[in-house]
Amino acid sequence: MATTELIELAIETSKKAYVPYSHFPVAAVLVTKDGSTYTGVNIENASYSLTNCGERTAIFKAVSEGQREFSELIVYGQTEKPISPCGACRQVMAEFFEHDLKVTLVAKDRSTVEMTVGELLPYSFTDLN
Ligand code: THU
Repeated sequence: MATTELIELAIETSKKAYVPYSHFPVAAVLVTKDGSTYTGVNIENASYSLTNCGERTAIFKAVSEGQREFSELIVYGQTEKPISPCGACRQVMAEFFEHDLKVTLVAKDRSTVEMTVGELLPYSFTDLN
């Protein structure tokens, strides 16, 4: 799927976000090297800190289905500028993605910024050595 189609999928997916507290839907679309796509939305909780971001939902869905090889991530939020992923999600990206994996960040007007995981989280902690 082309990145433009993945962006439309992310926007459509964001309707499934569970956001009764923030009313701020976020969606992610994660593409695997074998061409599968995994979507994720933010899922909030009355105990606010238990909220799971859209990015981590997509990554955890894919990893729990046995996927380990990823090629691209799209993140959509209803922001003025392309959404900036939180620190926790950047750390989870660094765990599973190669540092040059392309992350496309999308704003509510569909404007985009492309970054790599390495740019989002330089000098990341990825192992115990
Ligand atoms: N959120 C995400 O899902 N991803 C991000 O990158 C930033 C924040 C969610 C968490 C919470 O449900 C809402 O956006 C407001 O912080």
